[in-house]
Amino acid sequence: MDPKPEAVSKVTVPVILERKLRGEKIVCLTAYDYPTARLVDEAGVDIILVGDSLAQVVLGYDSTIPVTLDEMFHHLRAVRRAVRRALLIVDLPYGAYHQGEEEALRAGIRSLKGGAEGAKIEGGAKRATLIRRLVDAEIPVMGHIGLTPQSVHSFGGYRVQGKTLESASDLLSDAQAVEDAGAFALVLEGIPRELAALITGRLRIPTIGIGAGPDCDGQILVLHDLLGLALQPPPKFVRTYGELGQAARDAIASYRDDVVASRFPSDAESYHWSPSLREQFLKWATIRDLKDDG
Ligand code: KIV
Repeated sequence: MDPKPEAVSKVTVPVILERKLRGEKIVCLTAYDYPTARLVDEAGVDIILVGDSLAQVVLGYDSTIPVTLDEMFHHLRAVRRAVRRALLIVDLPYGAYHQGEEEALRAGIRSLKGGAEGAKIEGGAKRATLIRRLVDAEIPVMGHIGLTPQSVHSFGGYRVQGKTLESASDLLSDAQAVEDAGAFALVLEGIPRELAALITGRLRIPTIGIGAGPDCDGQILVLHDLLGLALQPPPKFVRTYGELGQAARDAIASYRDDVVASRFPSDAESYHWSPSLREQFLKWATIRDLKDDG
């Protein structure tokens, strides 16, 4: 049942910042379409991210690199129509903020016009000026450092980051730079638990972990991983809370079997004439047959 409008207490950027002060965990999840976004929102998730993981889990690309801004916004608009309570953030995909600040600003403005309440961009200190520029244009920014999927080719694969002293100290500086630039939250992806705890302890803004251990201020997962809808075995940090992929396979196979064996549809699943129309039709058919014979 739809919650009554007055029962919905909207999650906003200040609400998210307050959560950290109160030591309350922040629950985040991705969504890419209207029905799943409704489920996620109604379940009380705080932040819904239209992630560029859309590329892989919905559009069938083999990385996040190919997805375009137009594709992202097509899905953002569907999610926007569903979400009433959660804070809605959209990922700026690869190529949407790499060619200059003006381009990034245009993408950020389009995000808000498309119904997002903030934009996420990948990268640390090297994005600081850009983050500042977006924040100055009233666009709340969520940062994202660590195993940032848009850097897959520079990393040479999906490798956990921050496992050497040098890389850990770079990530610590990146985190600080993102906060200083005005971001309201920071996603930490694919880094050791110890480093995530250190960053979380140092920052005033909340950290949202994915493959970064339990000490972050919040957690995020890709919806399809959580539901068991991923087409590949998920990484070790994923906990699969449902097996919807298998349930869907079973349901589709049963439908196929029923059609082949003429068990679907049944009489109860069919529409019927009213008894009076049936009678009228029988009379009409009898008269027509008599005429044809005569
Ligand atoms: O695209 C995405 O889904 C993400 C996260 C899960 C953080 O960036």
